[in-house]
Amino acid sequence: MSRVELGPVGRVRSRVRVPGDKSISHRALVLNAIAEGTATVRGLAPGADVAATLDALVALGVEIERLGEDIVRVTGGANWRAEQSIDCRNSGTTARLLLGLLAPRATAPVTLIGDRSLSRRPMRRVVEPLRRMSAEIEPTDTLPITITGRPLTGFDHRLDIASAQLKTALLLAGLAADGSTTVIEPAVSRDHTERLLTAMGACVETREREARVRAGGLRALDIDVPGDLSAAAPFLAFAAAREGSEIVVEGVGLNPTRTGFLDLLRAFGAKVETAVTASEPEPYGEVRVTGAELLAIDVGPEIVPRAIDELPLVALIATQAQGLTRVHGASELRLKESDRIEAIGDGLARMGADIEILSDGFDIRGPTPLEGAQLDATGDHRIGMAWAVGAALATGGSTLDGAEWIDVSYPSFLADFASSVGVSARV
Ligand code: S3P
Repeated sequence: MSRVELGPVGRVRSRVRVPGDKSISHRALVLNAIAEGTATVRGLAPGADVAATLDALVALGVEIERLGEDIVRVTGGANWRAEQSIDCRNSGTTARLLLGLLAPRATAPVTLIGDRSLSRRPMRRVVEPLRRMSAEIEPTDTLPITITGRPLTGFDHRLDIASAQLKTALLLAGLAADGSTTVIEPAVSRDHTERLLTAMGACVETREREARVRAGGLRALDIDVPGDLSAAAPFLAFAAAREGSEIVVEGVGLNPTRTGFLDLLRAFGAKVETAVTASEPEPYGEVRVTGAELLAIDVGPEIVPRAIDELPLVALIATQAQGLTRVHGASELRLKESDRIEAIGDGLARMGADIEILSDGFDIRGPTPLEGAQLDATGDHRIGMAWAVGAALATGGSTLDGAEWIDVSYPSFLADFASSVGVSARV
């Protein structure tokens, strides 16, 4: 386990570019793998999670050629190879998308396995709805799980949880099922799958919280993956919380189903300006955040899915805002790569913040100066990145254990953060 030393930082003005979006990258690979033709994907996310999806598809017989560091060529319409076991490593998106992909397509039983963290994460939410479509998948709750491919029947799913991974798994299954498959969610979740399916000529209809597909072919689609707003968020969080700072991120995805964090920054009182430069199939452009005096906010279940991966950063910002910030309706945080509610509570308490954890969120009273502390990524890339921001905001030095977990989504994060924010990171 690697420990890095992190130091505090004053005001910053800088421009940043971040790697390609992780969610869009998984989908660009998976959807082109089942499309007719060959497509080039540029700006593919560099982390271990997307590599897990790429390696899984190659093991299943999909032809994927690397043309450059972040450029691949995918040839779809593969004859699925009978691969017995696929390692999804730490990646929840890989596991859930593969469940839906393979349920109607596997030519022999395939067992999905994962690392310790992924083997604890809930799969029932995907397995049960797939079974309603006649999928043969055993067992129900956690990996390892074996999928025996068989013909599926379309189904109208009304989900209890807003989850883009779950929605995508069901749409992938629906694309090869008899009849139509509808997914209705309790709140809006990221819609990258629906946008790509539309651009690839699928038979898909969408309304606000509803998506419907019918069986049919996809056309291969060249995709330029925009920068990942979740990777930009630590930079923007620092700018918001350090009054007088300003950070601009260029070429970043601005899909409204992902920009809940920007709405929350505005609600705190930070200045947030966006300029969308292109919008098909995914809107992207520039975002500029300028720090100001911050006031506490209330973060409830309606916005949680649009900001889910940024809530650890929201907690950090709340420590610098005047008053009581409450985040609630976010129990999904306990089911991520780590229990993020516990991880946030522990780390912020070590830094001297006034935090109380709830079953479905946390209460934070601010402003409190943050003190340098011994921090731990808890096996979770988002927590590791949040603590780099915490250390930059603190007085005194901090250490971060398990910094290597950041590689799951953004391997050059500490170097990029050091060069644009100036935090002194020593490995
Ligand atoms: C993702 C969806 C979200 C998010 C995860 C990526 C995706 O998870 O937290 O990092 O690519 O679909 P849920 O679908 O579980 O909400």
